[in-house]
Amino acid sequence: MNSHATERLRKVADFVKARRAATEAAGHSNPGFDYRWKHTLRVVQYGKRLAELESANIEIIMAACLLHDISKFDAEDYGVEHGRVSARIARPFLEQIGYEKETMDNILYSIAVHVDDNADFEHPVTIESKIVSDADNIDRFGPYRLLLLFNQTEDYGKLIEQASKRLLTLKKYREGGIMGTKSGENLFNRQLDLQITFLERLVEDSRLTVEI
Ligand SMILES: [Fe+2]
Ligand SMILES: [Fe+2]
Repeated sequence: MNSHATERLRKVADFVKARRAATEAAGHSNPGFDYRWKHTLRVVQYGKRLAELESANIEIIMAACLLHDISKFDAEDYGVEHGRVSARIARPFLEQIGYEKETMDNILYSIAVHVDDNADFEHPVTIESKIVSDADNIDRFGPYRLLLLFNQTEDYGKLIEQASKRLLTLKKYREGGIMGTKSGENLFNRQLDLQITFLERLVEDSRLTVEI
């Protein structure tokens, strides 16, 4: 990547951070913001790695990864719409920093579809859009997410119940079919295997946790 691209990505990162700062300045502080930004940073790195492995456009992917969850830094929770909302937030900004139209549309499409494969504008599926979704999924099933999951309760009964449910989901994902690229699937399976091994052992040990 040339210095021009690095400079633009710096501006993109600053734009996301400014969005968060504005929400906080308006009094809507959210403890999830820290996790979200760190998730974003990891998604950027996974995206970069997949871009290299799949010979895709690194700058498009890194910009889209930085912006993919920007709407999560608002006070409002947009649910499954948050990808499309993020793209709407990003559009005027990307126009302003001088991305050419084709590049910008690919970035916006990659952001918009990352939740449920749907955009609210016409655009063909691209290798970059597949990679942004893959990078997001890889971190969503990584060890940090596991920590987050188990930080929320000290009720071990409830926790084991959650773990058992999650195991079913993870095993279904492990059968494949949800990732867009082969490299993404390899990294995703690595995350799933870690979680499956850990959760299976947890459930196994929960059965030993009995009074005598
Ligand atoms: Fe997201
Ligand atoms: Fe995300």
